[in-house]
Amino acid sequence: MPKANQILRAPRIAIAILAAGKGTRLKSKHPKVLHEVGGKPLLAHVIAAATKVVPASDVFAIIGHEADRVRGAVAATGVGFVHQQEQHGTGHALMVARKALAAYDLVIVLSGDAPLITAQTIELLRDFHISKKAAMTLLTTRLENPVGYGRIVRKKAGSDEVRAIVEQKNLTPAQQKIHEINAGFYAFDAKLLFGHIDKLNASNHHGELYLTDMAAILGAAKQRVVAVQASNPHEVLGGNTRAELSEIDQHMRMGKCRQLMDQGVTILFPQTCVIDTDVEVGADTVIEPSVQLRGATRVGSDARIGSYSVILSCEIGDNVLVQTGCVLEHSVIRARASLGPYSHLRPGCEVCEDAHVGNFTELKKTRLGKGSKANHLTYLGDTEVGEKVNVGAGTITCNYDGVSKHKTIIEDGVFVGSDSILIAPVRIGRGAYVAAATTVTEDVPPDSLALGRARQIVKEGWAKEKREKAQTQKAK
Ligand code: UD1
Ligand code: CA
Repeated sequence: MPKANQILRAPRIAIAILAAGKGTRLKSKHPKVLHEVGGKPLLAHVIAAATKVVPASDVFAIIGHEADRVRGAVAATGVGFVHQQEQHGTGHALMVARKALAAYDLVIVLSGDAPLITAQTIELLRDFHISKKAAMTLLTTRLENPVGYGRIVRKKAGSDEVRAIVEQKNLTPAQQKIHEINAGFYAFDAKLLFGHIDKLNASNHHGELYLTDMAAILGAAKQRVVAVQASNPHEVLGGNTRAELSEIDQHMRMGKCRQLMDQGVTILFPQTCVIDTDVEVGADTVIEPSVQLRGATRVGSDARIGSYSVILSCEIGDNVLVQTGCVLEHSVIRARASLGPYSHLRPGCEVCEDAHVGNFTELKKTRLGKGSKANHLTYLGDTEVGEKVNVGAGTITCNYDGVSKHKTIIEDGVFVGSDSILIAPVRIGRGAYVAAATTVTEDVPPDSLALGRARQIVKEGWAKEKREKAQTQKAK
């Protein structure tokens, strides 16, 4: 029985995410942790996993290189930030964060460039650390090709305890054969970490303060340093190079496809599809080969998305048919609508229930009402189309006069003949007809016919005469 004055409480846990580095090996003008995999910055993935384990107010991103850009990209997550002005290594990053972290009992350290980490693995690290009453616990895994990673030197084979982590550049020939690597995720007893962190020194290849050296430092201070293996070796992959980023991206996207397939989505040749992490798709929807579903796209159930369609942050209802080669951005497509092949929705469109958008039709900031059709070679910009409207082939709204944009309104039941030009601002009243090839410059009242084209003239025999003339000239 605990004594009455003994307070038993859960340890206060902070998560620090190392995200200050430049990412020299990427050869990029953009900060490393803002490079994207699965359609989101590396750091955003790590934050998403961390905030499943502790509240955002206990997560601290340590930023430095291009700090303002990095902060701006993830500020909405509500995490805290620590500024590491100059980057003198992963150990130095934690020294800088001492003030923010010292009030916690346990500090979990994640790497901002290793985005496949899951909440379950962070919890495994936390629980193992607590159960072993360790000063430092590191997550490891065995990699077929361990080159580039810090290697784990255990005290004895099979022991939980670790003697040291040796960085790639400092490996002895014997150590080069070690396949167990340091994933770059740690749990520390905060008091012991900050009690000994000043012992780090920069006597290594890069002249940096390596957090990994804490293993040997804490060991020498007779503190327990242990390691736990991650069950899924892919979770620890870090993106130091473009090739590694591509490998991580592929893992993430195949994982996403597998998750959707588990939820009842059919994906044909998932290897060819690019589906971002945050995309949602309903059951019995079919995704054909080479489809991209990006950003915050949501697709309902029983829909079909045709090959080579690229869909960015759209909401797509149930039973929608998107045929081959559509490009759809920031738009809403309601149930049973059909698009394509080769339709283009620019931002701000709404295609209502049972509406059709066909080949080579472009819509911008346009609402196409229920059951309406714009099936061929049409441009509708800043247009409101009512219900059951037929927009004939080749119809164009002239929404831009070179200075400002103007609206076109086409009311319910209108029939717009092919090759018509609607010069905005203009309104076509309910049930009206626009004759083919009309240039509409004035409002058309409901139920009327607008006809505005040059009258046809016919010159009989003209073509025959022309041919005969040409023949006699040749003969001369
Ligand atoms: C690190 C580990 C290595 C491990 C590997 C796993 C060290 C010394 N080595 O190597 O044992 O196998 O991760 O992926 O820790 N960062 C800062 N401030 C700095 C320096 C780095 O915030 O001053 C950040 C980086 O932005 C990055 C993370 O720390 O997100 C790791 O740094 P990185 O240079 O990628 O270390 P690795 O060489 O991958
Ligand atoms: Ca790294």
